[in-house]
Amino acid sequence: MFFVHPIARSPDHPISITPMSTTSTDRRIDKLIHLLVKNATVVVPGPKIASEIGVTRFQVWRWIENLRSLGVEIRGVPAEGYQLVTIPDILTPSLVRAELGECPIGRNIVHYFRTDSTNGVAIKLAADGAEHGTVVVAEEQTAGRGRLGRAWFSEKSSGIYTSIILRPPLAPAAAPVLTLMAGLAAQKAVSTVTGLAVDIRWPNDLLVNGKKVCGILTEMSAEVDRLHAVVLGIGINVNHSVMPRELENIATSLRMEAHRGISRIQVLVTLLRDLERYYQMLLNNGNKAITERWEAASTFAHGKRVRVVTAAGETLATTTGLDASGALKIQYDDGRPDSLVAGEVLEVK
Ligand code: BTN
Repeated sequence: MFFVHPIARSPDHPISITPMSTTSTDRRIDKLIHLLVKNATVVVPGPKIASEIGVTRFQVWRWIENLRSLGVEIRGVPAEGYQLVTIPDILTPSLVRAELGECPIGRNIVHYFRTDSTNGVAIKLAADGAEHGTVVVAEEQTAGRGRLGRAWFSEKSSGIYTSIILRPPLAPAAAPVLTLMAGLAAQKAVSTVTGLAVDIRWPNDLLVNGKKVCGILTEMSAEVDRLHAVVLGIGINVNHSVMPRELENIATSLRMEAHRGISRIQVLVTLLRDLERYYQMLLNNGNKAITERWEAASTFAHGKRVRVVTAAGETLATTTGLDASGALKIQYDDGRPDSLVAGEVLEVK
């Protein structure tokens, strides 16, 4: 289930083709957005924006153009300034923190308009000592990574692409339960915000009406007896209006299922709060608190006919619950019992 990453891999740099590409630029754009949101009912003069964030008026204009290309509606009033038409649904730190309030997960948010993979960024940040609860979030990924070496489709401004760095005081054996915990938190957040019925397929895919809306890639660095850092990489299909042809039979988005647009910021903030809640539950009450809740939340826990997919091929089995470590217990059709710690199970329809 886990890919133990060589944490000293090369850094995942933000792109350099747009003015929104570096960390420091992101901070000033964050300030620009914050300024427009704070003054949402008025036209904010260009020179005021430029002097408050410490850039030229030309730079402000270029960033406004970039934000428009991301779907942020900003009215330009000639010789006067700029005004937000609607509060943007982008995930910049000041907007997320304004909604999130005090929550240890999310105290430090690193935002990218575009990066290759937020997991790559988070792994590098963790190796450099980033604190527990650091959240990396991107509007777009150019090389989003999925489980089992797959790619993760990361359309601009449509999904949530986030990686959360945890530093649990736990042994590496706790890693499977941490990944189940992430699935539970994501399920709770998505169902709370959308009202949709959300299933969890082991270990932590979220399904709505049988199709995948969320995937989680857990990567970690550890010694034999101690976890250094766990990166929970979570991708949620939120406002995609269509899925690419090769995914349309197996994946969907919250918008497509709920038949309305969904606030990404609301989903992200709720997710971070729920992650914090389940994380504390795990630390205070142990694995059982998570495995029992997971079994109650997933139709895959007991009595589900599945195809178990491994490198060796596919075998039919029936699920028989989780063991204390978070492994999925199954019974193959020939009667043999087994416990899965990695791989994929698919429902037999
Ligand atoms: C899966 O295959 O189901 C796991 C998908 C995980 C995708 C997320 S998107 C944010 C984070 N960054 C990545 O490159 N992958 C994860």
